[in-house]
Amino acid sequence: MNKRTKAAAALLAAAAVTGGIAVWYCAAPRQKEPEFVFSYAENQTEDYPTTLGAQKFAELVEERTDGRIRILVYAEGVMGTEHDVIEQMQYGGIDFARVSLSQLAEYIPELNVLQMPYLYTDSAHMWRVLDGEIGDMFLEEVSGSELVGLSWYDAGARNFYSSSQPISCLEDIAGMKIRVQESELMADMVEALGATAVPTGYADVYSSIERGIVDGAENNWPSYEAMSHYEVARYYTVDEHTRVPEMQLCSAHTWEKLSEEDRQIIRECAWESALYERELWTERETESRRIATEHGTQVIELSAEEKKRFQNAVMGVYEKYCGGQMDLIERIIEEGDAGEETVQQEAQ
Ligand code: GCU
Repeated sequence: MNKRTKAAAALLAAAAVTGGIAVWYCAAPRQKEPEFVFSYAENQTEDYPTTLGAQKFAELVEERTDGRIRILVYAEGVMGTEHDVIEQMQYGGIDFARVSLSQLAEYIPELNVLQMPYLYTDSAHMWRVLDGEIGDMFLEEVSGSELVGLSWYDAGARNFYSSSQPISCLEDIAGMKIRVQESELMADMVEALGATAVPTGYADVYSSIERGIVDGAENNWPSYEAMSHYEVARYYTVDEHTRVPEMQLCSAHTWEKLSEEDRQIIRECAWESALYERELWTERETESRRIATEHGTQVIELSAEEKKRFQNAVMGVYEKYCGGQMDLIERIIEEGDAGEETVQQEAQ
């Protein structure tokens, strides 16, 4: 199936399910009929933190609108790839979604600045940026498009993993074929490390590694575990090259149908669901690492010197993607320093 056919099939499936629900409501007269039934696309498994966050969001919205707004969460990528979903949202074919910033930045390139390699020192640093002025500014930036940015979800740090030999130094990754998200920035980053980037949809990563189309990939612990990538790529190198946050979105077409009061409720519920997702995320990271290592994953911690070499190798991509935004990069780095100062003051 090509991209368009897949997207059309996903839409038909959603319409069929929504239609089915309407019939069910007719058969149960005492149940109050919702004024709106919206779709929500999610490409992760049912028990994944972002999917549970989406379900929490749907529950909160239904509760606080007294059942007037119902949101149906379609997980496991049934509504198409993240690219399909973003495109459909732009003309109102899908109402809500949670997507990786890497995919969204293909449509709104200014967002790349938030996912540059080795940008954040740690998770706390990233949250200081996203929960502060800079994060708010970018949620607004997205809202200038056909989409409305609602909240930030966690997706931890991404690391490399490989099938036939471990990656312990730059020389190991050089020449490898590495799956990357369908993102120009991510492809350039991997090529700067001397590897060949192979952009591939998330659902096809397992088979690409299994069939030897790629030698490895890169992702966070929960994705590596939830998609069973550890079965085909047992060397996992903790280099934390990127933190790619995720955004909850609403289609601007859907947004226009809502009253100011409902928009406010949706924003609040999105924010609360994000806090819930972030908690689940931290637990799942530990759990996923445990599961993977129990199944034989060999963890390679990159030495400090080697990490520096990786960092130096990718510096060129800053010039290409953030040439006009270096002041913003500096502000983001300062947020990291501010955090360190606070930690030092607290320790005194
Ligand atoms: C993460 C992210 C997904 C994305 C995936 C990928 O798992 O949560 O939304 O599709 O990375 O590597 O493609």
